[in-house]
Amino acid sequence: MTRQTVTFVDNRTGKEVEFPILEGTHGTPVIDVGSLNAQLGLFTHDPGFVTTSSCVSAITYIDGDQGILLYRGYPIEQLAQQSTYREVCYLLLYGELPNDEQLQAFTRRMQYYSMIHEELRRFYSGYRHDAHPMAMLVGVVGALSAFYHEALDINNPDDREASALRLISKMPTVAANAYKYVIGQPFVYPKNVLGYVENFLNMMFAIPTEPYEVNPVSVRALRLMLILHADHEQNASTSTVRLAGSSSANPYACVAGGIATLWGPAHGGANEAVIRMLQAMDRKDIPAYIARAKDKEDPFRLMGFGHRIYKNYDPRAKLIREACHNLLDELDARDQPLFRIAMELERIALEDEYFIERKLYPNVDFYSGIILKALGIPLNMFTVIFAVARTVGWVSHWMEMMQEGSPRIGRPRQLYVGAKTRDYVPIEERG
Ligand code: SDX
Repeated sequence: MTRQTVTFVDNRTGKEVEFPILEGTHGTPVIDVGSLNAQLGLFTHDPGFVTTSSCVSAITYIDGDQGILLYRGYPIEQLAQQSTYREVCYLLLYGELPNDEQLQAFTRRMQYYSMIHEELRRFYSGYRHDAHPMAMLVGVVGALSAFYHEALDINNPDDREASALRLISKMPTVAANAYKYVIGQPFVYPKNVLGYVENFLNMMFAIPTEPYEVNPVSVRALRLMLILHADHEQNASTSTVRLAGSSSANPYACVAGGIATLWGPAHGGANEAVIRMLQAMDRKDIPAYIARAKDKEDPFRLMGFGHRIYKNYDPRAKLIREACHNLLDELDARDQPLFRIAMELERIALEDEYFIERKLYPNVDFYSGIILKALGIPLNMFTVIFAVARTVGWVSHWMEMMQEGSPRIGRPRQLYVGAKTRDYVPIEERG
C-alpha cells in the first residue's frame, strides 16, 4: 500500500514537505509532524489539544460522533451489564479478560495490598475536619511513595506492576478514611472477605457499634459507576499522569497529579458541581439558568452538559440515566426532587437551539451525582468516587507508557507574544 502522506506547502518560501499519516485500528488517522520544526521552522498550535494526538495507546477507544466507548475493544455497554469492576481492572491493565485462575490470583494480590501503612493513617490528622476529601486524597496518595522505597524502580516491570496494584487496591481505603476523618468516625480496615465494591461501602459506612449490612442495590449501582468511570482515553487527568510519568516521576506522584486535575469542575469535579447547581434551582428557574449558560458575558456553564469528544449522547450517560431510573424505583425515591429537576433541565436544554447547534448533551457527570446522592454518599465525596474508579485508568496508561521504554519527556512549545528583546534599565533611569 502506498505510504499515506499529507503535503504542507509553506507559501512564504514555496517549500513543500510531506508528512506521514499514521492509521490506527479504529478512529481518526494522525499526521506525524515530528519533523515539522526541522523541515519548515514551524510548530503546530493547538491550545487545549483539541485536535492533537499525544500518544499511541491500545487501552480505550472513543468515537464521539457515534457515542462509542471501548475498553480494550469491548463495548462499555457489554462490560457494564456483564463484568465486574475487578475484572475490568484486569482487562484495562493487562489487555485481555482474565480466565478464572487469573482473576482469582489478581483478586488475592489486590486484597493483599488493600491496607495502608499504620503511620499513614496519622497523616489525616494534619487536615482540618472540614477539609475537602479530595485535598486529603491528593496529599495521602502523594505520600504513599514514601512507604514503598523498595519497589519504586520504574524501570523494573515487577516494581511497576506492584505500584499499579497498590494504587488500585489502596485508593478505596485512602478514600474511605478521608470520609471517616471528615465525619469524625473511626477508620474501618479493609475486609478481604468482601468484594471490591462491598469492601469500599463497608469502609465508608460501617461503625463499631452496629452491624452494617451492605445493600445489594447500592453495590449494583456503585459497581456500574466504577466500571463506567474506569478509563476514558487521554482526558485531562490521564494526560497529567502521562506527562508526570514522562519525567520518570514515581507512579504515586503521577497519580496524585491526576487526582489534582480531576478535581476541577470542568472535569471530574463536575459531578459535585451538577448537584450543587440542581440544588440551587427550582423548575421555574430553569429558563434563567439556560439563558445564563448561553450568555457569553456570564462564566456560568450548565454543569453536566457538553464534552470535548462526545458530540452525541455520552454512552455512559445513557447507562447511568437508566440506572438512575432503576435505582430511584428500587429505593422508592422516584420523587427525588433533584432527579425531577435533572430530567426537566435535560428536556428543556435538549430542545434549545443553542445546545442542539453545539451538540451539548448530558455527559457522564449529569446523572452520576444523583445516583451517588441516592446511595447516601455525601456531596464532597463524589469526585473522590470518580478518582477511585479512574485510578485503574491512570495506572494502565502509566504502565503502557513505561512499557515502551523510557518515554521522551513531554515538553510542549508555545507561541511567544511577550516583549521584544530589550536592555535592562537601571532603576534611577526609569520613569
Ligand atoms: C468529564 O475528557 C474526558 O473524557 C472527560 C471525562 C472523563 O471521563 O474523563 O469524560 C469526564 O470531565 C466530563 C465533562 C464534565 N464537565 C462538565 O460537565 C462541565 C460543563 N462542561 C463544559 O465545561 C464543557 O462542555 C467541557 C469542559 C466538558 C468541554 O469543553 P470544550 O470541549 O472546551 O468545549 P468548548 O468550551 O469548546 O465549548 C464549545 C461551545 C462553546 O460555545 P461557543 O464559544 O461555540 O459559542 O459550547 C459551549 C461553549 O461556551 N459550551 C457550553 C457548555 N459546554 C460547552 N455552554 C453552556 N454550558 C456548557 N456546559
